[in-house]
Amino acid sequence: MNKIIKDSISIIGGAGHVGFPLGLAFGSKKYKVNLIDTNKKNLNKIKSGLPPFYEIGAKKILKKCLKKKVLFFSNDLKTARKSKFIIICIGTPINKKLKPEIKYFLSLFYKLSKIISKNQILIVRSSVYPGVIKKILTILKKNNNNIVYCPERIVQSKALIELPKLPQVISGFDKKSVKEVSKLFKNICNKIIISSIQEAELIKLFSNANRYINFAIANQLYIMCEKYHVDFDRIRKMMKLGYERNLNLPSSGFTAGPCLLKDTMQLSSFYKGKFDLGSAAMKINESMVDLVIEKVKKIKNYQKKTIGILGVAFKAETDDVRDSLSIELIKKLKKRRYKVLYNDVYHKDPKQHEIKVVIKKSDIIIIGAPHKKYENLKFSKNKSVVDIWGFLKKI
Ligand SMILES: NC(=O)c1ccc[n+]([C@@H]2O[C@H](COP(=O)([O-])OP(=O)(O)OC[C@H]3O[C@@H](n4cnc5c(N)ncnc54)[C@H](O)[C@@H]3O)[C@@H](O)[C@H]2O)c1
Repeated sequence: MNKIIKDSISIIGGAGHVGFPLGLAFGSKKYKVNLIDTNKKNLNKIKSGLPPFYEIGAKKILKKCLKKKVLFFSNDLKTARKSKFIIICIGTPINKKLKPEIKYFLSLFYKLSKIISKNQILIVRSSVYPGVIKKILTILKKNNNNIVYCPERIVQSKALIELPKLPQVISGFDKKSVKEVSKLFKNICNKIIISSIQEAELIKLFSNANRYINFAIANQLYIMCEKYHVDFDRIRKMMKLGYERNLNLPSSGFTAGPCLLKDTMQLSSFYKGKFDLGSAAMKINESMVDLVIEKVKKIKNYQKKTIGILGVAFKAETDDVRDSLSIELIKKLKKRRYKVLYNDVYHKDPKQHEIKVVIKKSDIIIIGAPHKKYENLKFSKNKSVVDIWGFLKKI
């Protein structure tokens, strides 16, 4: 039988946005962390001291972990055999019909069931469709029922700042595993909330749906303001002045990325397509791309102009372009044969141009992602600026 090492953690999806910072957080404590990932390129980057994506504070902590020799790297699942804890952080996508695509995710557990032993604890960190954890239990049953669901609720790029601050929801079928995992997470976070599996599944998805719908409220009001030529940002500012109940109204903009829409749609699937508020939020948030195009079409001689997009990441201060509406906008503009240039200060792409080139050569400037570095840029008066975020306004 394999000898289990009790302070060893294997993270499957260890080079990803959730797995990598989590590995650093545990590596900074007393744990040895085995990052298992199919993406060899990103594993090699981490091995050489470079975070594979923008993550605040990661470079420094990675350097320390590498110096302490607490990080291990592999693309072989079998290396998880010796770890007391196996944390699963791989993606849980939805398909073109907006339904959860869990076949690939579940196939991992069939593989794991042939590898793991009864003394190991499996921790699912990926965001799952309600009922999936129970399904995993049936897959693993003969070999292991120590399965614990610990959803991740960090905001992307700020994992290392948020992990110690956010309460960690922990749920499982077996009390002993829940206790051991609570002890494990106590090393990296302040507060533990114990819940049932179904509660944890819903807490995670409700949290993202709540944010997605909240952004849709702002976008809906923005769309209304556009129709009646009223300044949404002025109204929003006045609404909030001395009136606490309006403080949760976010700014308008592209609501996108790999989590919010996906998790709202996971919830919609769970509720058999009757999540009306979720569907309405999707319709509104996704319509912001067409609204930008309509704004462009109101500019005189727009067909002959060059359009410059500043920011292609899905939101400010990240290099992540997954499910970015700014990218969707570029695709739609190019399909209409408009001349488009773009820049992103975080996402490096060989086809992009320098900020100054984009500004100089473009007649129309669109803010695609409101990165702070664009905040104080000056545009000459002959340029039209489309800024649905209210980012450049000094109200
Ligand atoms: N990104 C976020 O901020 C965030 C926040 C909360 C929850 N989540 C959830 O966490 C999960 C992961 O999201 P992510 O953004 O980190 O995705 P990601 O794509 O950045 O990371 C997933 C990693 O898993 C690896 N991988 C895929 N299949 C594998 C396999 N069979 N074996 C080993 N490695 C494999 C990929 O190469 C990738 O590096 C999703 O369920 C997501 O919804 C993400």
